[in-house]
Amino acid sequence: MTVTRVITNISELTTNDPSLGAGVIGRLHDAAMVIGDGRVLWVGANAAAPAADETIDARDSAVIPGFVDSHTHLVFVGERSEEFEARMSGARYDGGGISATVAATRAASSDELRRATERRLRELRAGGVTTVEIKSGYALDVVGESRLIDVATEFSDEVTFLGAHVVPPEYFNDREGYVDLVRGAMLEVCAPKSKWADVFCDRGAFDVDESRAVLLAAKSAGLALRVHGNQLGATGGVALAVELDAASVDHCTYLSDDDIDRLCASRTVATLLPGADFSTRADYSSAKRLRDRGAVVALATDCNPGTSYVTSMSFVLAIAVRDMHMSFDDALWSATRGGAKALRRDDVGHLGVGARADVVILDAPRAAHLAYRPGSSLVRQVISA
Ligand code: NIG
Ligand code: FE
Repeated sequence: MTVTRVITNISELTTNDPSLGAGVIGRLHDAAMVIGDGRVLWVGANAAAPAADETIDARDSAVIPGFVDSHTHLVFVGERSEEFEARMSGARYDGGGISATVAATRAASSDELRRATERRLRELRAGGVTTVEIKSGYALDVVGESRLIDVATEFSDEVTFLGAHVVPPEYFNDREGYVDLVRGAMLEVCAPKSKWADVFCDRGAFDVDESRAVLLAAKSAGLALRVHGNQLGATGGVALAVELDAASVDHCTYLSDDDIDRLCASRTVATLLPGADFSTRADYSSAKRLRDRGAVVALATDCNPGTSYVTSMSFVLAIAVRDMHMSFDDALWSATRGGAKALRRDDVGHLGVGARADVVILDAPRAAHLAYRPGSSLVRQVISA
């Protein structure tokens, strides 16, 4: 039997469904909603709320859809705070530190990896994340990548094979051999257990031709595509992602006008990762340029030990608003519905009738407090389906 719950006294309800409320963000005031069977059943005025089996009183607080974090590297052990400190004193990020995490992760037991992943996931959830994508990419050998995918699968359906993260030390003199391994034996073992394939197409990682070779093989193996592109330079990652109809191209710190035109004419979402720009002291991605031209933008944490050891979507929102000049509503949309679009999902990232009941009740009267009061923990309750 379906148990229904009504959430009453919502001061500000963001649905991301324009048919339900004002603007693209579908905003209602003095609202209520009913959930049951893991879905949204009804949304409307508080005064018109139907009866339900249980009542959750939001006590005049804001409610938003759960965050969709469409880009994380959660499965690793170890930390690289010294690398962060060196960057804050002027060192540049070039991806070289990845090999330190690879060494630690290869040496860890599966239980250690599971515990480390679970702990980061708990932090994300406490901050309101209800859908999370998880990448492999810190083992870079066949058995190890397969193991990271297995751990990721325990926590998410959105699992990404990132064998082409960087060339591991044992292949420094044989790049071609490593690309062949990734698109050959590694893909064969990892593809059946993954939904996505990703490539770090950038300076110090893989060039456009190497990336294309891996992505085409992954596509043939049935995987949908995502790309790390234009983080360290205008290196062609965006154009490649659009060429291959990748669901998303992530980072986009360096963008030409042509790149933005390409994105606008495609289905590929530009996923911005403010935590990575923050933690590498890079210039922030041009969110405003993208939005002014009408590109679809997602925001994600990029949680990883090198460039963005960030598990707070509120922190991401605060940077997007303060330093990337996004309006709060635009940033909130990008961290919810935008993330869902980057994962080509229509069932999450909004609270329209029929959506998954992924609901976050805040300890604040307006959602904008998430950026306005950075560093405070303003998530009171997270309901997951
Ligand atoms: O998204 N840029 C490539 N991969 C990660 C960083 C990995 C690392 O430094 O450990 C990122 O920034
Ligand atoms: Fe990343």
